[in-house]
Amino acid sequence: MLKGKHIILGVTGGIAAYKSAWLIREFVKANAEVQVVMTRTATQFITPLTLSTLSRREALIDMFPPAPDQTTDQWTKHVDLSLWADIMLIAPATANTIAKIAHGMADDFLTTLVLALRCPLLIASSMDVDMYRNEITQRNIDILKETGYFLIDPDSGELASGLTGPGRLPEIERLVKIVDDLLHKIHQDLTGKRVLVSAGPTQEPIDPVRFFSNRSSGKMGFALANAAALRGGEVTLVSGPVHLRTPRNTRRIDVVTASEMNEVMQSKFSSSDVVIMSAAVADFSPAHRVEHKLKRGDEVDRRFVVELKGNPDILKTLGEQKTHQVMVGFALETDDGVENAKKKLDEKHLDAIILNNPNVKGAGFGADTNVVTVITADGKIDELPMMSKFDVANEILDRVVTYL
Ligand code: CTP
Repeated sequence: MLKGKHIILGVTGGIAAYKSAWLIREFVKANAEVQVVMTRTATQFITPLTLSTLSRREALIDMFPPAPDQTTDQWTKHVDLSLWADIMLIAPATANTIAKIAHGMADDFLTTLVLALRCPLLIASSMDVDMYRNEITQRNIDILKETGYFLIDPDSGELASGLTGPGRLPEIERLVKIVDDLLHKIHQDLTGKRVLVSAGPTQEPIDPVRFFSNRSSGKMGFALANAAALRGGEVTLVSGPVHLRTPRNTRRIDVVTASEMNEVMQSKFSSSDVVIMSAAVADFSPAHRVEHKLKRGDEVDRRFVVELKGNPDILKTLGEQKTHQVMVGFALETDDGVENAKKKLDEKHLDAIILNNPNVKGAGFGADTNVVTVITADGKIDELPMMSKFDVANEILDRVVTYL
């Protein structure tokens, strides 16, 4: 996969920066084109001359070259490079650069480029053990993961400081393989396509402070939105109340109730090419909305009855209006899974349905992995092994593109 690919290698100021020379050699050996981008501090650990020579391109360091060399097109280089790149890897990534990216700072060429970037970004952190374990570093790493960047965990072992623990840059072969694997998964096959994804639960209010809902975390839908955007899609993510950050390069619309979700999905449907309904829509909502907080009452044997009315089946209604859209639904089943899912696929006019069982290990609400069976309208049934929700998302999108 590396042959002919455009790779940006970001190098920041840690002791492992010297290993970037080997990384470049491996990429060049595989016939990839490499553009090195360094921070000023990285130049203390390895010279730009070495990296420029190995990559056969001048390593970029500063946003603005010194005055005599300035030309008008130079300051937009970060935008040009972003369009040129197929993938970017920062190795090693220091705690400082991770913190800056997590907070959207752009005070040097590397971080400015990252803000403008469209392609996948892999970040291989490498630092001393206490810096890595520091709560603030870990929080920043979580921000980057949730935003849709790919974090590569450091190896454990003896560090340059003499301490032992996680912090070492992984072996070069492993880094090259991770880049190659990601290029295998992500193709630009949704370029120009509008992708509408729903995610998370809905909340159905009983009174101003109480609601009915379910345990959906939204992670599957957010992974789908991230993967679709990385594959070039123009993604709108319609989300119920969740505790997740918006994936990069997606447009998010927040809703609360099933009826709000229905309204937004209806309004976006006709202009969409792909519709993926991964939200766990509440099937019922209280028939009567109470405007004042309900009182508990103080009788010993008190009972409380809430009358429920059915919510619209959003996916079914959209399926009936289908023209050119490729449509995917989910089916959460604990019994007779394949049979029930096939019935839903037919009834809702879908091209594919993703069956999952919340009782299976590695599947279900809140997990980072999922175990699903993909059933397509041509009758194919693929039972997939346990994999990350991002990988499940790509398996689903691989099938979607065959129907486009
Ligand atoms: N769905 C929807 N609107 C609803 C309920 C579900 O659009 N009111 C969508 C879900 O997002 C999912 C698919 O329909 O993509 C199947 O949802 P599921 O809850 O498994 O099935 P239901 O049709 O609700 O049937 P049941 O709960 O009886 O199994």
